[in-house]
Amino acid sequence: MTELSKSGAAVGEPTSASRPPSAFLEVRDLKVHFPTDDGLVKSVDGLSFQLEKGKTLGIVGESGSGKSVTSLGIMGLHTAGQYGKRKAQISGEIWLDGTELLSADPDHVRKLRGRQMAMIFQDPLSALHPYYTIGQQIVEAYRIHHDVDKKTARRRAVEMLDRVGIPQPDKRVDSYPHEFSGGMRQRAMIAMSLVNNPELLIADEPTTALDVTVQAQILDLIRDLQKEFGSAVIIITHDLGVVAELADDLLVMYGGRCVERGPADKVFYEPRHPYTWGLLGSMPRLDREQQERLIPVKGSPPSLINVPSGCAFNPRCPYADIPKDNVTRTVRPELTEVGSKHWAACHMTREQRERIWAEEIAPKL
Ligand SMILES: Nc1ncnc2c1ncn2[C@@H]1O[C@H](COP(=O)(O)OP(=O)(O)OP(=O)(O)O)[C@@H](O)[C@H]1O
Ligand code: SF4
Ligand SMILES: [Mg+2]
Repeated sequence: MTELSKSGAAVGEPTSASRPPSAFLEVRDLKVHFPTDDGLVKSVDGLSFQLEKGKTLGIVGESGSGKSVTSLGIMGLHTAGQYGKRKAQISGEIWLDGTELLSADPDHVRKLRGRQMAMIFQDPLSALHPYYTIGQQIVEAYRIHHDVDKKTARRRAVEMLDRVGIPQPDKRVDSYPHEFSGGMRQRAMIAMSLVNNPELLIADEPTTALDVTVQAQILDLIRDLQKEFGSAVIIITHDLGVVAELADDLLVMYGGRCVERGPADKVFYEPRHPYTWGLLGSMPRLDREQQERLIPVKGSPPSLINVPSGCAFNPRCPYADIPKDNVTRTVRPELTEVGSKHWAACHMTREQRERIWAEEIAPKL
């Protein structure tokens, strides 16, 4: 069993910035902390993962687990958040196509944003300007990176609106955001994000506010566009069901840290962390009666200022007493390999977890 250091590298491997990245996107030991009057909020606290072009990573976790802060950090927008009055503290390494973004010139990162990496935001209204037409905004996004006249850029905007399934795109290009329905706004934002064919697309809860049919259409759209452009995609969601089929890899976040990650089918069908079991248990099931569908993970998400000592999940974990000597409440578990490219952070032995999964959890799902 290999043990991972905080950076996610196997213990003994060098973790310095001199080690070249081995993937298109490589995040190492990312920390994003916010100083507040109540104390330091450790929204992201040592997150590491890799993503190749053409692949999709699903990041899953409850509200407040640090998913949006992670994506904003990658985009270099962590200071632009809704609470962003004081400067966020960010550390670690974010390698995108061979460039380390945290130490790069902010002007360079600004140029990469939009062109090489783009984000679909959780709330399309906050990302679209109310006073400009959808077309003007897409034209603007395109012309920042392409030296073309307005007419050419407008043609491109209409083409993109068409690609994302907006009816009568040559007319709707002149609509204002408030004239679009929620699903159409989400599509318009996807069109704007993709106008420059970004190599990395981060979609933060792209479907939360939408009804089930539109959700499925938006996810299909992201999948089609990814195939066409060969981009690397990160889909962020609190709903494992949304990404189970779409993602190649899954990363489960709890309290600003990764508690499990690996190939999507492994994390989905052979999960090895009690929190992932809880998430699976709370997934809506179409083949069950309404009242049987949702078994939420009991208790509340941890404080990110006073994170519980030991395993942050221990106050909510039904198995916290299984590991010996109260280790669960005193020692923070590191990610350890539980299968090929599959990692989980839990003090229970692999055998204990395999048994609980097979005998107690899987039969109930
Ligand atoms: N600028 C800030 N200052 C202080 N705390 C912040 C700031 N930005 C985010 N946070 C806190 O960081 C934590 C993680 O926030 P984040 O938005 O990443 O959660 P999330 O996983 O995206 O949740 P959701 O599913 O609700 O979108 C939250 O507790 C949030 O209150
Ligand atoms: S380390 Fe302990 S508390 Fe944490 S998930 Fe494993 S059994 Fe539960
Ligand atoms: Mg969020």
